[in-house]
Amino acid sequence: MRQIVLPLIGTVAAWRAEARTLAGEGIPADQVLWQVGGQTSDLFAAEEATPGPPRTLRLPRAAVDGIEGALCHSDPQRFARGYDILLRLADGTLQWGDRSDPSMHKLLAQGKAVGRDVHKMHAFVRFRELPADHARRRFAAWFEPEHATLERATPFFANRFGDMDWVIATPVLTATFLGGTLAFSETTDRDAPPEDATEDLWRTYYASIFNAARLMVKAMQTEMPKKYWHNLPEAELIPGLIQGAEARVADMAARAATEPPVRRTAVARDMATPRKDTPMQGSLAAVKAEAQGCTRCPLYAPATQTVFGAGPPDAPLMIVGEQPGDQEDLAGVPFVGPAGQMFDAEAEAAGLDRTQAYVTNAVKHFKFTPRGKRRIHQRPDRPEIDACRWWLDLERQLIRPKLILAMGATALQSLTGKGEGILKRRGGMEAAPDGTPLLVTIHPSYILRVPDPAAQQTARENFRADLAQAAAFIRDAA
Ligand code: URA
Repeated sequence: MRQIVLPLIGTVAAWRAEARTLAGEGIPADQVLWQVGGQTSDLFAAEEATPGPPRTLRLPRAAVDGIEGALCHSDPQRFARGYDILLRLADGTLQWGDRSDPSMHKLLAQGKAVGRDVHKMHAFVRFRELPADHARRRFAAWFEPEHATLERATPFFANRFGDMDWVIATPVLTATFLGGTLAFSETTDRDAPPEDATEDLWRTYYASIFNAARLMVKAMQTEMPKKYWHNLPEAELIPGLIQGAEARVADMAARAATEPPVRRTAVARDMATPRKDTPMQGSLAAVKAEAQGCTRCPLYAPATQTVFGAGPPDAPLMIVGEQPGDQEDLAGVPFVGPAGQMFDAEAEAAGLDRTQAYVTNAVKHFKFTPRGKRRIHQRPDRPEIDACRWWLDLERQLIRPKLILAMGATALQSLTGKGEGILKRRGGMEAAPDGTPLLVTIHPSYILRVPDPAAQQTARENFRADLAQAAAFIRDAA
């Protein structure tokens, strides 16, 4: 039996190095005892592991990412499971993503749980400002993640709050960001810090960012489980905010901008221009993994992550929006924010099953301008749309949908080379460059921004009719 003790900090990288060595030596999965952050025990030292055939590991990126994500789960068996799966993938006796294998099924579920935990940390960490003793402002936060996700989650804060010094303490590890350098240490004081005077600031902040249009108590409770509430000073505001929500929605609609005028620029894109890029081969999962490192336009820099399409790889319908919004940027999934909720409600009313569709965007990074602590959506420009068409084309070629639903001018621009005249073109059937039928409709967020209630109702009915038309097309084509 081989005993491996992994460090508490840098656990995943250490596991990776150990797994590579063990596999190279041919040590089978059932001959390894994994521990993290403890002392080596000599209980098994006397028994030598019996090696099998050595393996050289060459795995797809998606598999490496998936295994390493699941290693942040709190399950003590995660390291052993990860190593077992790694060996079987290397041997070719297991396919990545094969859920009929119980271990794979568990690993994928744990990877998802880790993703949710990271998202919760991004959403619910609340910094308190500390007195500054030098030029940079200083903040501290306490958070209790369910899994070992601090190291995975903190680069997001370094990106977002790069011009401040901050500390995020959790019961096990503490992340410290000082002068632009991120470091981790073991937490010494494992109790949450006491409430302090700056809580008022956070209450004001929370009240101002509260998005009344999204207010659904059930959804809110799912998103913000009660167990997190004791660390959230703003939680006591929630009942009052719920009461005021309806009035705030009406007020927001009244003040919101109307759909920006359609662009006047001439349509100049030559759809036949050959690409300079080498066409990329591979599965949708491989393309998605590749897109995570996309730097094809400057939008990648301030965004949290590439938000790639989601849905069945053989979906008959491909739905294309504009670009991820604030919430999509954090969640890494398209159409989960206010526009997504509007879409879901209308799709349900129109008999369109979103789970049967592949949902994506013309531009895969969130474009925004910071305003105070908020990130305000900005429409993508032509060069950004053109740069990102690389990914949209690949998605289209891999999915080969029977119908594309282009929602809004940006999607239409990217897919047909002409984004103008959306209100005249909506409801009409056109074609993508490869001939795939393409149905034009408005973007759901447009409905949210129409100020006049009667006009809003008409926009909503039109949108619903377009979605019903898409659903009927797919049914007929089946
Ligand atoms: N708007 C979009 O176009 N796409 C999203 O994913 C979210 C909002």
